[in-house]
Amino acid sequence: MKKVLAISGSIRKNSSSTQLIDLFSQLSKPDLSIELFEGLAALPYFNPDLTENPPDLVKVFCQKIKEAQGVLICSPEYVFSLPGVLKNALEWTVASSDFVDKPAALILASTSGEKAYESLCLIMKTLMADFKNTSLLIKGARAKLTKEGKLKDQEVLKHLNQVIDSFKKKMA
Ligand SMILES: Cc1cc2nc3c(=O)[nH]c(=O)nc-3n(C[C@H](O)[C@H](O)[C@H](O)COP(=O)(O)O)c2cc1C
Repeated sequence: MKKVLAISGSIRKNSSSTQLIDLFSQLSKPDLSIELFEGLAALPYFNPDLTENPPDLVKVFCQKIKEAQGVLICSPEYVFSLPGVLKNALEWTVASSDFVDKPAALILASTSGEKAYESLCLIMKTLMADFKNTSLLIKGARAKLTKEGKLKDQEVLKHLNQVIDSFKKKMA
């Protein structure tokens, strides 16, 4: 079983991004074991002065990325960009090489989400993560999920399963 660290760009209760992480986890069993990083909102603001000796929670976060065989990021778009909590978390990883060649599955689930999707892909490319064939933009995400977090849209479900298959292959 491969270890995957999941990061949700939305910290609200009943977030569709977090629901999609749950769904991804269910669909990828028993091959992947997915742990949601719960500390995103508690991460201090990125400060380049602290990169030599970062705050404890940042160390925990980076260690979890290092130990995971893959990383799953699922996020909405806020005002045509990535949510601040997610951008902040990713900024802490720039000084390290934690994402280099790391298999990453990137899901941008939002009303539209095009700008944030582009931005997430550019950031992860800069961090040299491997997300070839493992990224997905889900437009109108909230309407495509049931209250229980099941996907109503069969086409999106098909694409999600393709992402999961490619992601698993990278870690095999
Ligand atoms: C302050 C704010 C700004 C938003 N800006 C955008 C936006 O620029 N583009 C977009 O597609 N959705 C935007 N949305 C809608 C959310 O991204 C959308 O509802 C998303 O599905 C919420 O994700 P969540 O359920 O994971 O929290 C915005 C929502 C809020 C609250």
